[in-house]
Amino acid sequence: MRTLRNKSALVTGAASGIGRAIAVQLACEGVDLFLLDVDQAGLVDVVSAVKRKGVDAIGRRCDVSEPTQIATSVAHILDRWGGVDLLVNNAGITYYGQTHEMSAEHCERLLAINLQAPIHFTRELLPTLLERPEAHILNVASFFGLIGTRRLAAYTASKFGLVGFSESLRAEFGRTGLGVTALCPGFVDTKLFATASLGSDRQQQKLPPRWMLTTPEKIAARAIKAIYRNQAQVVMQPYAKLAHLGKRFFPGLLDWANHLSRNRTQNQEAIKPQAAIERRRAA
Ligand code: NAI
Repeated sequence: MRTLRNKSALVTGAASGIGRAIAVQLACEGVDLFLLDVDQAGLVDVVSAVKRKGVDAIGRRCDVSEPTQIATSVAHILDRWGGVDLLVNNAGITYYGQTHEMSAEHCERLLAINLQAPIHFTRELLPTLLERPEAHILNVASFFGLIGTRRLAAYTASKFGLVGFSESLRAEFGRTGLGVTALCPGFVDTKLFATASLGSDRQQQKLPPRWMLTTPEKIAARAIKAIYRNQAQVVMQPYAKLAHLGKRFFPGLLDWANHLSRNRTQNQEAIKPQAAIERRRAA
């Protein structure tokens, strides 16, 4: 995009963290905002914050795990503004724990929010995005959309899916002028991990160490730069870049490292079906 001034954007998960920071920085660029979230109080707060920057803003409660709510929200914005120039798929949740201890309901909800919702919003908004002379889709994926890790398998699957979806959209619509970016940050100082659902063997939230964290404002600033430059993929933070490069050029290294610290007793216990069933019953 050459300019964001006087454009309009739909941002999901805008009530806190990265979504809120992107909304505020888009407002500074002169973008009118349609902001969605399940957190009503957070929405009211962000709407008043962005309006103070002089842009038009609408906040709407929308549970993006529900395709009908997505369709109603899109109908609302088409009715009010006739479309948007920028779609920011940002809403997300996570689960931290062993994969076999994750409930089917939570797994479905995670995939619905992190992966299916971006696909539904894109499907619904593509006709109007393609009518605009310049339009962009920003998918907030993650460093875990490029590298798999333990205890985050469903989250990782959703983010790999989002990175693949973004790449396919670029292949399909690149020639029409539609820009698409997959944003892949490392850890960010938000409430994502503090509010994560946990496996039954975990009593306490596992928070990333401070040195690995960056701020949502830095992520938002980089996201806006990526929209201007129509960058396909943005990997942020030095350790994330290093791990990503390491995986590309030495594909066996990470796998070797994952097996290096194997604690046989603990792992054998973890995969015993009976032990897993009993733990789930006791939870
Ligand atoms: P956050 O928890 O501060 O923000 C997520 C927002 O999504 C919240 O406002 C929440 O209410 C909203 N949300 C959750 N479920 C929803 C639903 N069903 N419908 C509508 N809104 C819903 O977390 P953060 O970190 O700002 O997360 C934003 C995105 O960034 C997520 O997609 C996350 O996966 C991604 N990300 C986060 C990283 C981190 O370390 N915090 C790192 C890399 C990516």
